[in-house]
Amino acid sequence: MHYTLGKEAWVKQGEHIMSATISIEDILDEVITLPSLPDTVIQITNLINDPDASMNDIGKAISGDPSIALKSLRVVNSAYFALPTKVTSVEHAISLLGMKVIKNIVFTASVFDTLQGGEEMLIKHNVACGVAMKLLVDSEYVDSSGFKHPDEAFIYGLLHDVGKLIFGEFMADKMAKVVDLCSTNPLTWYQAEKEIIGIDHAELGAKLAQQWQLSPELIDAIRGHHDLKKCENPDHRFTAALMGLADFICYQSGYPAHTNATPALDEDIWSETGISPDAIEGFVTAMHDSKDSINELANMAS
Ligand SMILES: [Fe+2]
Ligand SMILES: [Fe+2]
Repeated sequence: MHYTLGKEAWVKQGEHIMSATISIEDILDEVITLPSLPDTVIQITNLINDPDASMNDIGKAISGDPSIALKSLRVVNSAYFALPTKVTSVEHAISLLGMKVIKNIVFTASVFDTLQGGEEMLIKHNVACGVAMKLLVDSEYVDSSGFKHPDEAFIYGLLHDVGKLIFGEFMADKMAKVVDLCSTNPLTWYQAEKEIIGIDHAELGAKLAQQWQLSPELIDAIRGHHDLKKCENPDHRFTAALMGLADFICYQSGYPAHTNATPALDEDIWSETGISPDAIEGFVTAMHDSKDSINELANMAS
């Protein structure tokens, strides 16, 4: 089978595989229902942003949702946080780690609920990307003027390919075609999605982040992680580039999103982040050292 890249679409023996005119709105109207953020998470986020709310109010709100509370405590007690003692209550977790970190843990726990049932390899890739993003942000190469929310780095990575999980849930037949196209052609997964579905996971993931009212920076980074030009605000290109780099580190460390797919890397990530390809080996070693944390967190989400 021979494919050539046309301006609009990949063309199979002179015939379009599918029209590239479908919009994300059409897909959201007809095929995909984006998952909503649990009420508890919205309530907790509002409380944490409310200067009048006490630690007690926040603890009560988390404990009021036993599933989220339990999962949050599992995240707190995981190897990732490496706490010296076991934490058994939400209040104890808040006093140890602070409200900001707890907000992120609750959010992570609820994203894990959303990911449940997804393909194991893909879930592990998203979790690994959270760890890689945190390693990058904590490294000597990134300072607070480049990435302003170090405690949110894990969530940025965790959500980068959330669009793929949604495709997997609602469009399993189309995903099988994406797999076929990638295994027979030197296409990236990202290009193949565009070809088979008409939109890609970065666009869909950004739409979900928008619906969840996440920050414009996170929305843009998800949208632009394979193509920095897709960032609507050029100020967000650095974060999108870090996310693309975290994705690349995952492939280099044995946490690919798929087998038989060429990683989609925007070459501009090197100049945008100022991080040289020579530095990647150090991150790969650190990823190997984080193997137990990645496995433990991925098990919580699958
Ligand atoms: Fe991606
Ligand atoms: Fe990825």
